[in-house]
Amino acid sequence: MRILLEILRREHAGAKPYVQCIPYETDDAAATVATALRQINADPGTVDADGAPVGEIRWECSCLQKKCGACAMVIGGVPRLACDARLSECGERVRIEPLRKFPVIADLIVDRSILFENLKTMQLWMQEAAAAEGRAVDTAYEASRCLQCGCCLEICPNWYAGGVFFGTAAIVPTSRLLTTLPDAVQKELRRAYRKHLYGGCGKSLACRKVCPAGIDIDGLLVNSNAIAVWRRRRK
Ligand code: SF4
Ligand code: SF4
Ligand code: FES
Repeated sequence: MRILLEILRREHAGAKPYVQCIPYETDDAAATVATALRQINADPGTVDADGAPVGEIRWECSCLQKKCGACAMVIGGVPRLACDARLSECGERVRIEPLRKFPVIADLIVDRSILFENLKTMQLWMQEAAAAEGRAVDTAYEASRCLQCGCCLEICPNWYAGGVFFGTAAIVPTSRLLTTLPDAVQKELRRAYRKHLYGGCGKSLACRKVCPAGIDIDGLLVNSNAIAVWRRRRK
């Protein structure tokens, strides 16, 4: 299999971006974008389509098993995980870019700290009394599968870094606490949900289509809206 990787590169934050086209060849039918990036970086003799040397391509990865979310990037125009993007599905050439809604640090690495700042604003880490039982266990488990990869924010028409609307990457973990916290200690969380999550969501569910974890986002949204907005329990 031969494929031309068109990689949008930047030496550092603020540097002028440029596209480097790198021919890649492999016999591995299961090779992914992550496979290609690792092999290119491991071979100091790699040259691009113009014969120029390819310097190390900066990108993030950890698990290589679709579990950590670190390798999220835009591949062929779609936000997805590099370790989940089979080259065999990409055609003869594919554009690879960093997530576009976050500040670029270098090449394919972006600063996603706004995700965690938003979770801090929701005070999700301060809740001690949460306990799941009955059907809430299923909801809590589903919510816990979020990778905080940011793919849903990349595709969302209503989310931008620093905005009041925190997007699906906050909706999902918040839904776990709305389902498991006792009613008596939910007042502030419900208020934050209505302010930062409910109001800004247009319910297009574009986020569901790209979520690499396949999370039941609409199910969690319906459940959380019922609890935080309509004050009903729907587990
Ligand atoms: S909801 Fe899905 S797309 Fe969004 S951050 Fe979590 S795992 Fe990533
Ligand atoms: S449903 Fe639409 S508006 Fe709401 S978080 Fe998902 S992509 Fe954004
Ligand atoms: S490296 Fe962990 S999800 Fe791709």
